[in-house]
Amino acid sequence: MSDMAKFISMLESGPESPADFTSYAESLINQYVNPENMHAAQSVAAAYAELRKGRRSICIMEELLRDAESRSCENVYASRSVMIRQEKLAALGQLASGIAHELNNPIGFVAGNFEALRTYSISVWNYIEALENAADEMMKQKIAELKSKYKINYIINDTKDIFVESADGFKRVSEIVNNLLAFARVDGGNFKLTSLNSSVQTTAAIVSSQAKFVAAIELNLGDLPDFEFNPGEMNQVLLNLFLNSVQAIKGQKRDSEGHITVKTWTEEGMAVCSVTDDGPGIPQENMQRVFDPFFTTKPVGEGTGLGLNISYDVVVHRHRGSFDVESEPGKTVFTFRLPLFREV
Ligand SMILES: Nc1ncnc2c1ncn2[C@@H]1O[C@H](COP(=O)(O)OP(=O)(O)OP(=O)(O)O)[C@@H](O)[C@H]1O
Ligand SMILES: [Mg+2]
Repeated sequence: MSDMAKFISMLESGPESPADFTSYAESLINQYVNPENMHAAQSVAAAYAELRKGRRSICIMEELLRDAESRSCENVYASRSVMIRQEKLAALGQLASGIAHELNNPIGFVAGNFEALRTYSISVWNYIEALENAADEMMKQKIAELKSKYKINYIINDTKDIFVESADGFKRVSEIVNNLLAFARVDGGNFKLTSLNSSVQTTAAIVSSQAKFVAAIELNLGDLPDFEFNPGEMNQVLLNLFLNSVQAIKGQKRDSEGHITVKTWTEEGMAVCSVTDDGPGIPQENMQRVFDPFFTTKPVGEGTGLGLNISYDVVVHRHRGSFDVESEPGKTVFTFRLPLFREV
């Protein structure tokens, strides 16, 4: 084999990294190439160096392509899951409002009938009392015996209590139904001129059963003008914030009740709402991730990790607002801002 052929075969099997290859080629030239072939050898070495650079670029491109492919798969998966959850929430909303509508009528007539029963009973008691007063002494004694035998005084007093408690129960049931109707109002997903404070009140009422014995929810609502937003979507945002706070406090298994405070106010053309809780707080290392899709610290089946991701999308992308979180041990504050005037 000539010196040049040997030189080329050694070049071919040289290191892959372009930087290592250049110094390797230089040492080969010095060792194996005659001065008269120097120029040709340098050109061949340069060509092989270019080849290595080309191969390296192809490798990088392939890696980038693989990365982009896997990211786009993740994105498709994430958006599909977001859509499924939103559809599920919308379906649940429709179901809730359907049930609430169905309950509204029977509750109305049962409550009405109950009120009629109460006034009729009062008339009957008055009638019995009048008869008793009109009776002679012998009859009065007989009436007293019968009253005691059939425990009439006890029954009349207990019936009065039953009427009061039942009226309270009906009031509560119809409040729940009204809140469900207001919460699940399906209005085609439109923006409308309405009150954020009402959304806060309705949603807090919906959450109250889950918050019972876990946390007291305090509403500190400022003077907000009505403004255009999508109440269905904002109810979902508030629901997720309230439930996150309730679940975080519940997870502490503490002895005393927790506190959730909801505040609203206006600031520089924005309606602002903050939800503060005295739960465990969010660890520093999770703070950057809470708005990521599928980030959850809850057990499988309890959290999908989409609540805050969807809430962020609703507030920031759909309403052109902003969303912030601050947390320290024992305190977490989520704050969102919505523009009072919409750019159309
Ligand atoms: N108030 C809070 N206190 C402590 N941690 C919180 C609070 N809010 C959110 N987090 C943390 O952020 C994570 C993501 O919340 P997110 O609402 O997106 O999902 P999730 O509640 O886990 O599930 P999902 O809302 O889909 O049912 C939670 O799992 C929890 O770790
Ligand atoms: Mg959540």
